[in-house]
Amino acid sequence: MRKKVIAGNWKMNMLPNEAMDFIQKLTPLVKETENEVIICAPYTDLFYTILNAQDTNIKIGAQNMHFAEKGAYTGEISGKMLKSIGVEYVIIGHSERRQYFAETDETVNKKIKAAFENNLKPIVCVGETLEEREKGIAFDIITKQTRLALEGLSKENVKNTIIAYEPIWAIGTGKTATSEDANESIKKIREEISKIYGKDIAECVIILYGGSVKSSNAKELFNKSDIDGGLVGGASLDAEEFAKIVNF
Ligand code: PGA
Repeated sequence: MRKKVIAGNWKMNMLPNEAMDFIQKLTPLVKETENEVIICAPYTDLFYTILNAQDTNIKIGAQNMHFAEKGAYTGEISGKMLKSIGVEYVIIGHSERRQYFAETDETVNKKIKAAFENNLKPIVCVGETLEEREKGIAFDIITKQTRLALEGLSKENVKNTIIAYEPIWAIGTGKTATSEDANESIKKIREEISKIYGKDIAECVIILYGGSVKSSNAKELFNKSDIDGGLVGGASLDAEEFAKIVNF
C-alpha cells in the first residue's frame, strides 16, 4: 500500500510571521493523520517553518533548487544548503518554473539527481498544456517528461521519487481534471515507469494529482486507484482548508 501524501505549494506567498502562524494553526488539525503532510515554503520561510514544525508530523519542502553544490550562480540555492537547515523535500520542474524560468527536462533531471545526492526527496512535476490535451498528445507529453526526468536514476531513487501530475490548464484556474481523467493520466505515468524500471518499482512510486485541489474535491480524487494524494497550491494557503484536504 502506498502512503497518501498531501503537499502544499505556497508558491510566492507567506511572510515568515504568516508562515509561523500557519504551522501553529495546522499542527493540531493534522496531528492524527496517517498521511504524509508537507509544506513547500518560499526560501525565506524555510528556517522558520522548520523550527515551528519540529516535533510535529509536518514536513518541510522547498519549491526549487539548483543542481550544482555551490559556486558562481548568483541568486540560486543548492540542495546542500536546503539540507543544511533541515529541509526534507523539494519540488522540481513545476510548470511555472518550466514556463517562466527556463526549466527544461534536462535541468529537471540534473536537479533530481542533485536532490538525491543531498538526501532530499524530490517532488517532480509533469503535465500537459490545454493545447497539447486538445491535440490528443497529453499522454505522450507526460510520459516523455517522466522518462526524461528519471533518466539515469538508480531503481532505488526512482522508487523514492514523488511525481506530481499537474495538467497546466488546471493549475490556479479552478478547473480540476475529472477524477477519472486524472487517474488515467497517472496510470499512464505508472505504466511508463513500469516499462523502464519494472512493475515492482512502479507500484511503489507515489504519484500525486495537482491542479485546483480543494477540500470539496479531494476525497473524490484521492480515493482513485492510482492517485496517491495531492500537490495543493491556492488551497494550501489557508490552514483550515488545507487540513480538510489532508484529512479528506
Ligand atoms: P493550484 O496549484 O492548487 O492553485 O491549482 C497547484 C500547483 O501549482 O502546484
